[in-house]
Amino acid sequence: MNRLECIVSMVEKCRTAADIGTDHGYVAEMLLKEGICDKVIATDLNEGPLKRAMEHLSRVKLKDKCDFRLGSGLTVLKEGEADAIIIAGMGGDLISTILETSKDVALNTDQLILQPMTAVESLRRYLAESGFAILDEKIVKEYNHYYFVIKAKKGFMKYDDPIFYEISKILTEKRDPLMLEYINKVLDTNKNIITNLEKTGKVEYNEKIEKLRKKNNKIKELIK
Ligand SMILES: C[S@@+](CC[C@H](N)C(=O)[O-])C[C@H]1O[C@@H](n2cnc3c(N)ncnc32)[C@H](O)[C@@H]1O
Repeated sequence: MNRLECIVSMVEKCRTAADIGTDHGYVAEMLLKEGICDKVIATDLNEGPLKRAMEHLSRVKLKDKCDFRLGSGLTVLKEGEADAIIIAGMGGDLISTILETSKDVALNTDQLILQPMTAVESLRRYLAESGFAILDEKIVKEYNHYYFVIKAKKGFMKYDDPIFYEISKILTEKRDPLMLEYINKVLDTNKNIITNLEKTGKVEYNEKIEKLRKKNNKIKELIK
């Protein structure tokens, strides 16, 4: 399964889905072809990508089922207009800003499907602190990169341990094989940082080394 297939697989059957930052329009196309929704609102901040999406959906004869909108984030949607909102392929901090800017729209949809390219930890934290609950997560590997896809909705969540903002609680508890691979990569990266900091022999790094050691021990506990 590739990144886009993974995103689409997280969307439950619904009437209208909004694909925010549609670019090429592939997510919109897949949602319609798989019959996951009847209509897609395909949006983009920039004219070039929106035009690309229009041309592509026209080519695959799905343009009639799409409503194309130019503008930033969820500002182009009315409250309750989309049953599912997909925001994929953007930085996690940008996704948080998009949700925060149109909070009422974000809180009033049944499904938020979020796929951050970076800063997944701060996105999870934002969701928890802003009236959303993470309902499910998937991990996918493409071109040697790991991507997380988060399904969220209005609700309450709080992790008893902050490590779960960084290391997905849901995927760790699922014992997802790719998640275990990802965790081992995180452990190795941290181990390498510790070794390199130790090599410098500088005392000012002692605190950082200790912190990383404790973090790695905690992460190891999670997968015991
Ligand atoms: C890397 S593409 C991702 C395309 C597709 N969603 C995917 O996951 O493959 C990011 C797209 O988001 C658009 N974009 C960036 N900021 C945006 C915003 N605030 N609101 C809507 N679209 C935005 C860009 O113009 C670009 O087309």
